[in-house]
Amino acid sequence: MNARTQGVSKADNLLEVRDLRVSFGAHEAVRGIGFEVARGETLALVGESGCGKSATALSLMRLVPSPGRVSGSVRFDGRDLLDLSASEIRAVRGQQISMIFQEPMTSLNPVLSIGAQIVETLRQHENLSKTAAWKRAVELLDLVRIPEPQRRVFDYPHELSGGQRQRVMIAMAVACRPRLLIADEPTTALDVTIQARILELLDGLKRELSMSLLLITHDLGVVAQHADRVAVMLAGRVVEQAATVQLFARPEHAYTRGLLGASLNLVDDLHYRGWK
Ligand SMILES: Nc1ncnc2c1ncn2[C@@H]1O[C@H](COP(=O)(O)OP(=O)(O)OP(=O)(O)O)[C@@H](O)[C@H]1O
Ligand SMILES: [Mg+2]
Repeated sequence: MNARTQGVSKADNLLEVRDLRVSFGAHEAVRGIGFEVARGETLALVGESGCGKSATALSLMRLVPSPGRVSGSVRFDGRDLLDLSASEIRAVRGQQISMIFQEPMTSLNPVLSIGAQIVETLRQHENLSKTAAWKRAVELLDLVRIPEPQRRVFDYPHELSGGQRQRVMIAMAVACRPRLLIADEPTTALDVTIQARILELLDGLKRELSMSLLLITHDLGVVAQHADRVAVMLAGRVVEQAATVQLFARPEHAYTRGLLGASLNLVDDLHYRGWK
């Protein structure tokens, strides 16, 4: 088995994915991939649009929409998530693994205050009184650096900026202290300065809550700054995975070299325009 394309089994792996396949009718979106995420580690999943990153993320949570079919194995802390019953996987979602979705604007309920939504998430998974849950909601907003959380907790989604809404999504995702957070392009819709702040926030939360992070992005700058390891996907396959430094220094696959080359050109362009 090739470690660069199929991954390596280790005792400190929190998540081990093997031969994962996702198909929609005759179309195979994910074609037998393997990778792992160690405890406390950030793994970046990169690759072009349509290569199967979101399908992979959704399959880990068992959220691939019908008619999608998933096979292979997804071992999380020793259990295969693909074998769990519907009620067992519901208990894993939110509490053990949670996800920040690619389209944050559509994931918040416009007619409920952000506090009410956080409280609902908390009370779904934990046996908390209403008062205790509202108190936690304020603490969580503070954790994701929403200013004046005691007041903002009563705001509705439309009263927040895009960056603040994304912070609320993150607060909801980490509300039950998951062991693995999956962030699917968490900052794509945001401008560059807010993007940087959200990613720093995720790094900080990861340390504070001892989480592992699966970070889906197409931005190699983000990978360089935030990921311990990288898996590169191309047309439903992982073509290469390695420690970030190693992958940037010695990319083995032509596609990875192309990706890195393209972003080096970008840096050259910026130099040329006198931006750096
Ligand atoms: N619900 C669905 N029904 C049918 N095909 C789907 C569905 N979801 C995804 N696909 C197909 O699976 C493939 C992988 O899609 P996926 O959303 O995983 O891409 P991605 O790597 O996340 O791309 P992007 O970077 O644009 O988000 C695509 O060809 C897509 O058309
Ligand atoms: Mg996607």
